[in-house]
Amino acid sequence: MILAFKMEDRERLASEADEMSYSLDDGKRLLEFLVEKGIDNETLVHRYNDKSEEYNKMQVVRRYMAPTSIADTLCALYPSNRENVLILDAAAGTGLVSAEARKRGFVQIDALDPSEGMLEEAMKSNLYQRYICDVIGDNTLDIANDTYTVLTLVSLTSEILKKLSVKCYEELVRVTKSGGYILINHYDYIFDTDIMKANLADLESRGLWKLTDRHYVEEPHNGVRRCTCIYQVA
Ligand SMILES: C[S@@+](CC[C@H](N)C(=O)[O-])C[C@H]1O[C@@H](n2cnc3c(N)ncnc32)[C@H](O)[C@@H]1O
Repeated sequence: MILAFKMEDRERLASEADEMSYSLDDGKRLLEFLVEKGIDNETLVHRYNDKSEEYNKMQVVRRYMAPTSIADTLCALYPSNRENVLILDAAAGTGLVSAEARKRGFVQIDALDPSEGMLEEAMKSNLYQRYICDVIGDNTLDIANDTYTVLTLVSLTSEILKKLSVKCYEELVRVTKSGGYILINHYDYIFDTDIMKANLADLESRGLWKLTDRHYVEEPHNGVRRCTCIYQVA
């Protein structure tokens, strides 16, 4: 299914970008710095710490629409009683996903991110209830089993996302309630990476989750296709 962005969202982002003294070239430079190939996770987190105050400006000039798109997907999954939906926003960053979800009536949202700087930016706008400073990795998270109704994983750096192990996905399943959803959003081609494809399918073959839908959205400014995979936890 291909979803279109609403015209008012495009226009709002365009006018926010026009009002800033931060150029698209500035944004491109920062993005290249953050997505440099081959950097390890620790170096990446240091980079996010250093650049946390610039991150939202970069996303405004890039007309970054993934948070809007994921918030619309949440609305489709939960047409009512949104105040009761408990969300873990993993790789939460500065809280752009939470900001969009809140506008649509979701209020119980926790953040998980290894970058203190990024979480501090989110704190300035009170975007989350709980701030968990940790990585998604082979570690066990300080979260009880079956806590969340939904878990969102939006734009986790592709170098990290592509290589997440089966254990990482099992951990996301562990903290999500049975019947709840795990939404993974990134560029479409990332989901075709061999390791990622195999690991996502491994959980499905063992009956831990089921892929219930894939949404595609084309980014209006560059035509790149993003995908949201919706997994329902068994
Ligand atoms: C491109 S930002 C995305 C932030 C937010 N989801 C958004 O859409 O604006 C990537 C985030 O992933 C975080 N990150 C890096 N490594 C991570 C890991 N192993 N587990 C969880 N988050 C990680 C970074 O600190 C950064 O905040």
